[in-house]
Amino acid sequence: MQSVHGGDLARAAKRLGVPPGQLLDASASLVPFMPRLSWRNLQRGLRDYPDRSQSSVRKGLAAIHQLDPQSLLPGNGAAELFTWAARDASALGLNVSASPCFADYQRALACWDASLNGFPLRLSWDEVFPQRFAPPQQGSVLWICNPHNPTGQLWSRESLEPLLHQFELVICDEAFLSLVPHGESQSLIPLVADHSNLVVVRSLTKLYAIAGLRLGYAVAHPDRLARWAAWRDPWPVNGIALAAADQLLSSSERYQKWCQRVHHWLEREGAWMQQRVSELPGITPMPSAVNFFLIRGQQSLVSLRERVERHHGVLLRDCRSFEGLGENWLRIGLQDRRGNRRILKALKQELH
Ligand SMILES: Cc1ncc(COP(=O)(O)O)c(C=O)c1O
Repeated sequence: MQSVHGGDLARAAKRLGVPPGQLLDASASLVPFMPRLSWRNLQRGLRDYPDRSQSSVRKGLAAIHQLDPQSLLPGNGAAELFTWAARDASALGLNVSASPCFADYQRALACWDASLNGFPLRLSWDEVFPQRFAPPQQGSVLWICNPHNPTGQLWSRESLEPLLHQFELVICDEAFLSLVPHGESQSLIPLVADHSNLVVVRSLTKLYAIAGLRLGYAVAHPDRLARWAAWRDPWPVNGIALAAADQLLSSSERYQKWCQRVHHWLEREGAWMQQRVSELPGITPMPSAVNFFLIRGQQSLVSLRERVERHHGVLLRDCRSFEGLGENWLRIGLQDRRGNRRILKALKQELH
């Protein structure tokens, strides 16, 4: 069965009969290094019920984004917040998003018996970012992914801003934006104060390589977020996640420093991988502003992906579950140089 999400390491390890540690997971797109966290501190988050208002995380994020803490809501990953955004969205009529697109918006809308209508994205683009987002003509709710998963395109704020007047609700997923060099200048977060119909969702998963912890946040009008908070279960963000966030977001300087480290890595490895992959026969790397990129095959890449997995323990993202992509596409998450060499070696051997 094809994977509907990257990062299903446990299932792949079982399928291949090897320990997960032997695999290189380039199907998920996490930064390949992690911040240092104090275990003693994390342990303190174990015993007591977590702070239901997540006040210290809100405070940390408010300082980073220069916002009122009431316009921020930490969540159990961005995924949990999509569920609440979708509850609002389901009451408003036609929901639209560019297709192919990250599949979790559909899951979130389906919770409320609503669905998402895709409008096709052109499957060719150049390497100059940011790019103009071409919106659909119809719809009440627009879901935007910036940078876009799976294409890696960065949309310009200039092209997104007018959409706040066209749609009743705009939900902008900026899960990867903090990883993009100069990406913050395209964020819609500064527009939230003047637009109550805008929700921005962020994730800390990719930036800090903490997918297992589940930590994300929404930025929106305080009334909307207060409504969501009343709908959720009492402790949606666990104590260990709160303790980790306290460390990671303890100061804007610490956060900015981490982002800079990530940006340097992305610039260096992104350019290196694009160049090397472009030298391989039968596949073309697509330009990307972020830490993953699509490759397009002249023919089906299903067997290539399977061989790379079986013979080299390297997991690449099968794109058949993205509407509009199909068998000729794979997505690769950037690694450190050693990991990237391993991906290249696997591709090279299986393509020749
Ligand atoms: C575009 C996009 N948004 C959001 C998420 C989910 O983030 P989180 O781990 O914070 O739930 C993902 C995860 O793959 C993603 O690709």
